[in-house]
Amino acid sequence: MTVQISPSILSADFARLAEEAAAVEGADWLHVDVMDNHFVPNLTLGVPVVEALGRATAIPLDCHLMIEQPDRWAPAFVEAGAGSVTFHAEAAAAPVKLAREIRAKGARASMALKPGTAVEPYEDLLPELDMLLIMTVEPGFGGQAFLDIMLPKIRRTRALIDRYGLQMWLQVDGGVSAETIERCAAAGADVFVAGSAVYGADDPAAAIRSLRDRATAARAH
Ligand code: DX5
Ligand code: ZN
Repeated sequence: MTVQISPSILSADFARLAEEAAAVEGADWLHVDVMDNHFVPNLTLGVPVVEALGRATAIPLDCHLMIEQPDRWAPAFVEAGAGSVTFHAEAAAAPVKLAREIRAKGARASMALKPGTAVEPYEDLLPELDMLLIMTVEPGFGGQAFLDIMLPKIRRTRALIDRYGLQMWLQVDGGVSAETIERCAAAGADVFVAGSAVYGADDPAAAIRSLRDRATAARAH
């Protein structure tokens, strides 16, 4: 499976989003963290900004909704142009219905798990998803330290995906850096969100290349 890098604009300059999108040339996705100040204790951006960003870049948008009531709000992000929409398992009332709606509207459907949420109760839902996101920090803020205790969950999820022969991607988000990406990749992740490790670098595009090389080498082992 191919390694993909999704830089998080949470660590970018929100006053210069178009330029910041252009700075991550080579990225597979642009990770857009939507926070509502209820599901997480932070507030970021919503549908109008996603629409505007979609017009400003050719990189597909990977919208990570850290919001209450995703059943109600997620479809609007597909309509705004997101290529992938991730809702949280902890917030969704009807995850299967929601995933089907996201797919029917034309985006990839993805579900996220907070660090304290196990994957096993969701095993039967996996075929409904194009991607599962395993949070490797508590959602809400960029720049936090990677939680190594999530590595067993990544390994167990990879084993489930392989056992069922699914094509779904396995994304990790939070504290992913040159120091931690190899562990994530070796555990079975293939889509890597990185905020501070990309936008905190002097050359964001070079940081992406380096992250991709490290992950690709670790996955080959
Ligand atoms: C955290 C967000 C992440 C964040 C990652 O709640 O979901 O996408 O931007 O930032 P870093 O890579 O700095 O941990
Ligand atoms: Zn995120």
